[in-house]
Amino acid sequence: MKNETLQKAEAILRKNDRGSYTVPTHGLYPFQWNWDSCLSAIGFSHIDEDRAWVEIETLFNHQWEDGMVPHIVFHQHDDGYFPGPSVWQTGRKVDTSGITQPPVAGFAVKRIFERSSNPENIKSRVLELLPKIHAWHQWFYRCRDPKGSGLVAIIHPWESGRDNSNDWDNALARVPTDGVGSFTRRDTAHADASHRPTQGQYERYIWLVKAFRQHQWDNTTLHDNSPFQMIDPGFNAILIRSCFDLAELADQLGETQMAEESRALAAHALAALESLWSDKWGQYLCLDRISNELVESPSIGGLIPVFTNIPMARAQAIAAKLDELHQLCSYGIPSHHPLSEDFDSKRYWKGPVWLIINYLIADGLRKYGLTARVERITSDSIKLIHQSGFAEYYSPLDGEPCGGLDFTWTAAMVFEFINSFAAEQ
Ligand code: SER
Repeated sequence: MKNETLQKAEAILRKNDRGSYTVPTHGLYPFQWNWDSCLSAIGFSHIDEDRAWVEIETLFNHQWEDGMVPHIVFHQHDDGYFPGPSVWQTGRKVDTSGITQPPVAGFAVKRIFERSSNPENIKSRVLELLPKIHAWHQWFYRCRDPKGSGLVAIIHPWESGRDNSNDWDNALARVPTDGVGSFTRRDTAHADASHRPTQGQYERYIWLVKAFRQHQWDNTTLHDNSPFQMIDPGFNAILIRSCFDLAELADQLGETQMAEESRALAAHALAALESLWSDKWGQYLCLDRISNELVESPSIGGLIPVFTNIPMARAQAIAAKLDELHQLCSYGIPSHHPLSEDFDSKRYWKGPVWLIINYLIADGLRKYGLTARVERITSDSIKLIHQSGFAEYYSPLDGEPCGGLDFTWTAAMVFEFINSFAAEQ
């Protein structure tokens, strides 16, 4: 008999399945989100391999001609979300947003392919996806790192996936709100407003969308014209890992030129990532590309780099930082340091625990053989599920479920924690 928790996880994946894509959760997020989909596909790979591939294929069917993969695909009309297609106005045949999200697709495709029950049969589908993912990675280094530093910038907090992280507060304060007009948020009708970003943040999020719209969503100009250009170590590490993973897959499938190109991008970026390390904080920090200053903000973004091939000494320092965080919380890993003045245990990315982040970090630690921390993260993650259900995120102090409920990628990660990580212990 299948573990009861996995049965519940499967029921959530099935409930949020819209046929060729899944919604992150009913109500709050009624469309297809980029990194939600790729990580949810990893969950599907435990119960329905074909469905896992379809999820990623659907996302890449909406890739832009320049290589960008949008962060939302608005497959069907739904008034329950703001900002919808009428705000984005990207002019796509099927509406999409105009910004992107952390590029986990390369990593996800490798993971799903590796566990494939019949790799020979799947090869042709992977070979269709690889050039698309590679084009997205190249787009990043072309359009979000125009000077070739090796590090890409996000131009909107939503791109980071860590929307209201304290990392963005100062830079976002520079974004004006004039002319943004009045609008009605929908998120606070579905979730507790005290778990969500503030009105002031939303006004700036929308100001940026409208500014990019005025540039006709032309990615050759958006980066340089954005008043918000942030280099997030977590985001860059995910991109680097995906480039390395794509290179390995491409090699395996005989695409040697793609493999070489991808490895070169990753190696250049990995060397540049070192410039974000802070001895003072014992972790990586964000860099504000406009002020050219490191952001003194101890967030989870600076620990995610363990997910890629950072030096062993850095991985050990991150493990020590995790030990410190675990001492301060009942459940790891908090998305912001609990002793920071701006820590908020329930407000989205200002403190809560996210299972997808626990997964990326645990996966990284596993590569370095830092297994005691992998065990701690795995057991905290499973405890949260048992205590509080499949929430969008949780308070690290008491495990209170926050944000949306019955969350697809949370359910997907439970398959990974129970079937992969816990099974190894
Ligand atoms: N996460 C954002 C939202 O809450 C957009 O991706 O709508």
